[in-house]
Amino acid sequence: MAKQAKFPTHVGVIMDGNGRWAKAHGVPRVMGHNAGMESMKRIVIAASNLGLENLTVYAFSTENWKRSTEEVSGIFKLIVKYVRSELEELIENNVHINILGQYDMLPADSVASIDRLVASTAHCTGLNFNIALNYGGRDEITRAVNELLAERLASGDASPVTEADISAHLYTGLCHFDIPDPDLIIRTSGELRTSNFLTWQAAYSELMFTDTYWPDFTPEEFEEMVRAYANRERRFGGRKEESKA
Ligand code: IPE
Ligand code: IPE
Ligand code: MG
Repeated sequence: MAKQAKFPTHVGVIMDGNGRWAKAHGVPRVMGHNAGMESMKRIVIAASNLGLENLTVYAFSTENWKRSTEEVSGIFKLIVKYVRSELEELIENNVHINILGQYDMLPADSVASIDRLVASTAHCTGLNFNIALNYGGRDEITRAVNELLAERLASGDASPVTEADISAHLYTGLCHFDIPDPDLIIRTSGELRTSNFLTWQAAYSELMFTDTYWPDFTPEEFEEMVRAYANRERRFGGRKEESKA
């Protein structure tokens, strides 16, 4: 697909429905996550082929620790598997990986795999593939505020905190390259909520929902949604003729 007017710069994806997919197929939940990882592999390559600049996927939330130890460790094991099997193809596709979230709280082998993934793709200049891992929007904002507080206490700066200050201290702001706010956020599996994903950055994002469970989500459906974004009218609180998009 050739780039068109109003092509999104940044698409966020809430990859939901792995558990229900597994239930529908009569298999354990972790097999749903495995199928979800296969789906993620296809979407990353599709996003790269579309010429998208930024793709952010929600892989594990700060609330997902509430799940069984078996499910949580199963998800983390998949990270190791993903890096082992995909690193070469990601590099071939010039995909640059960045992590949003405190992934140092994961098991040591997963942390090592992620470090390898990030370091090995650091030179890549194509799609920025951001993985939200142990990520929560409220946690991200709270961390940013605490960092600002510590900086101000240390320097004796009593000036008011600005929106720009907060943005700069979010994971998306602390990254070594500029991650713009998401233009479009897609959620699969029919759930109509954002579940703590990019809470600050999504203030004016366009939202799209599909009933498809994440493991069944295809590159074709992804491309259709990205295309449909061109028909959205974004006003950012202004009148139509003042819209930025
Ligand atoms: C999304 O699928 C993956 C993660 C949250 C890690 P779910 O596991 O939430 O699937 P459902 O919502 O139970 O179907
Ligand atoms: C959101 O999905 C988190 C991820 C996709 C990683 P959840 O399945 O955890 O969200 P809720 O509980 O349905 O809101
Ligand atoms: Mg879910």
